[in-house]
Amino acid sequence: SQYEKGVKQLIDNGLKKVPKKYIFPAYDRPVARNIEDPNDAKQNLQLPIIDFADLLGPCRTHVLQSLANACEEYGFFQLVNHGISNDVINNMLDVSGRFFNLPFEERAKYITSDVRAVVRYGTSFNQTKDTVFCWRDFLKLLSHPLPDYLPHWPSSPADFRHAAGTYAEETKYLFLTIMEAMIESLGIIEANQEKETKENDNNIVQDLKDGSQMMIANFYPQCPEPNLTLGMPPHSDYGFLTILLQDEVEGLQIQFQEKWVTVQPIPNALVINVGDHLEIYSNGKYKSVLHRVVVNSMKSRRSVASLHGLPFNHTVRPSPKLIDELNPKLYADTDFNSFLSYISTTELKRKDFLDSRR
Ligand code: SIN
Ligand code: FE2
Repeated sequence: SQYEKGVKQLIDNGLKKVPKKYIFPAYDRPVARNIEDPNDAKQNLQLPIIDFADLLGPCRTHVLQSLANACEEYGFFQLVNHGISNDVINNMLDVSGRFFNLPFEERAKYITSDVRAVVRYGTSFNQTKDTVFCWRDFLKLLSHPLPDYLPHWPSSPADFRHAAGTYAEETKYLFLTIMEAMIESLGIIEANQEKETKENDNNIVQDLKDGSQMMIANFYPQCPEPNLTLGMPPHSDYGFLTILLQDEVEGLQIQFQEKWVTVQPIPNALVINVGDHLEIYSNGKYKSVLHRVVVNSMKSRRSVASLHGLPFNHTVRPSPKLIDELNPKLYADTDFNSFLSYISTTELKRKDFLDSRR
């Protein structure tokens, strides 16, 4: 049908109203906002800001405490001074924007219903299952180990592989560095622990090194009636951490104190959020928080989410270090493959996968 070609195609063909297929039930619709109004921006949420350079300096203990607080209270934070250069960031956003500007036939080469495909172009959230479509087109790329996947990535635009490959490698490295800090902030590994014991106990870091990474480039065209639809429905992310790169247009909202609040974009910062598997690994200490995306009538929006976790067939379970008589195990063991089978048979919404494992 015309909808399977995605939202950009509808807009490029001059659509003036949101088709029925995209209209969310009233309880899910966002409150109308004017992104150009500076008073409106005052309602935005200032997420905790973690300065990555401080993490490697004399204030490490203090920063680890802020990191723990952010993961317990918000499940989200903004990371600044993360070490990924502005060039690498701008090239990634720029090349993904140019990918979505290619002729539809070029993008359509990557359309598949296989959720495990190396490259998958699509629209909505899970278009074969969604009852209401969301206002989003996406390109999903398996990204680690990069040499296995890079030759399958789009070769157009000509600099796509180079720009997205560089960004993928740098975010993978950043992910591992953040995870080391998080493991320390959870009290699982002490920084000054003997190297030998550290290696024995710290298999999780090696497993994450070998773990899965996928990048999802999102494109949310401007929408004639933005209060009827959503760019992404409420959901939580599966893996350990998501590293989100967003352009200057706001749209991400997180659930905070039972309300939907917009995350104010900060140029060149990365938004980091706790995924379901880190919630499980931390035995519930760090929270995988519901989030969604709203669209607007003025501007299209681009984002690139980089999702990191354990290898696909690995079991995810609460760290034994966090379980004792006072802190019983709160989650059943799970793995990525059962999650993927689950999403290919069900309409994924909210945290029902995680909840089904509780
Ligand atoms: C996501 O939830 O993965 C994407 C969020 C966004 O586009 O801001
Ligand atoms: Fe997400």
